[in-house]
Amino acid sequence: MEQQYQQMRRKMRIDQLREQVEYKIMVLSGKGGVGKTTVATGLALALARSGKKVGLLDIDITGPNVPKMLGVTDVDLHVEDGQIHPAIGPHGVKVISMAFLLDDPDKPVIWRGPIKLGAIQQFIGDVAWGQLDALIIDFPPGTSDEPLTVAQSLPDMDGIVIVTTPQEVALLDSRKSINFAKTLQLPVLGVVENMSGYTLQGVAKDAEGAPLADAVIEVVGPRDALIETTTGADGEWSVTLDIFKRGGGEDAAADMEVPFLGRLPFDPGFVSGGDDGVHRIIAEPDGEAARAFEGVVERLLEQLQAGKDAASIKII
Ligand SMILES: Nc1ncnc2c1ncn2[C@@H]1O[C@H](COP(=O)(O)OP(=O)(O)OP(=O)(O)O)[C@@H](O)[C@H]1O
Ligand SMILES: [Mg+2]
Repeated sequence: MEQQYQQMRRKMRIDQLREQVEYKIMVLSGKGGVGKTTVATGLALALARSGKKVGLLDIDITGPNVPKMLGVTDVDLHVEDGQIHPAIGPHGVKVISMAFLLDDPDKPVIWRGPIKLGAIQQFIGDVAWGQLDALIIDFPPGTSDEPLTVAQSLPDMDGIVIVTTPQEVALLDSRKSINFAKTLQLPVLGVVENMSGYTLQGVAKDAEGAPLADAVIEVVGPRDALIETTTGADGEWSVTLDIFKRGGGEDAAADMEVPFLGRLPFDPGFVSGGDDGVHRIIAEPDGEAARAFEGVVERLLEQLQAGKDAASIKII
């Protein structure tokens, strides 16, 4: 009886959540380690910075990294009236992660299917998210139980953002994610190409230390490719090295006829930021990575709006 009552309450809350959250977005990739969590946290921060109310749900039960990347650790979740209140991260982003419920972060979580699914449903139905412009959901790699359970538990999903790196193996796997979305009849909001080019910068000077304008700089890039550039008036130069090739994400998006949301540069600051809990967007709000995220968010919002417009046309 108690269990049925709880399930009924959860269903009511999920119905409420559908109305309270304008955009519900899943972040997926076919392959692990391509930057889903970096992108999910970056999208949340970039949206929140532009004034939106944002929630971030970390569904990666076995390796929840969102709190670490946002510097929201040592959280004691507040529970009131049977609802879990999310932790508050930078720019007011509301965060829920399995990491908050684990006593020992080094202990592996070994849960059988039904328990895992129950936990996911609880994360969706028993959290007091409040009114949100966007709820971003970060997943473990692949297209297994988790995204399926979320898509089924939280109807009216606005769509999926697929993260890939530009090399072939990652692209092949991201095609699987696109097909997964199509099977579930979920819109693909777009593909993000992550780790797409590393920019080297410098200033050329003569022996006396004066800037060298119009000088030719040669850099040996990946696969021994020689890259040439010319310095500007103050001797400054920059060269972008395509470490994992470039443009693969855009080609895959074009091939599969889904939108391309943009490229994020390879930036070692993401790694140190992930380790010390200060996200790149927070550490360097006007840096290259933060600007790249702004572009991705702009295109994402266009896709979301187009989806809403199309849905309202269907209803009429
Ligand atoms: N653009 C980037 N430049 C440099 N390093 C990056 C970039 N994006 C992600 N990384 C680094 O790559 C590693 C993996 O990133 P992340 O954890 O976001 O991937 P993931 O797809 O969520 O991984 P998992 O599949 O394990 O969930 C992290 O150390 C992260 O800091
Ligand atoms: Mg991750």
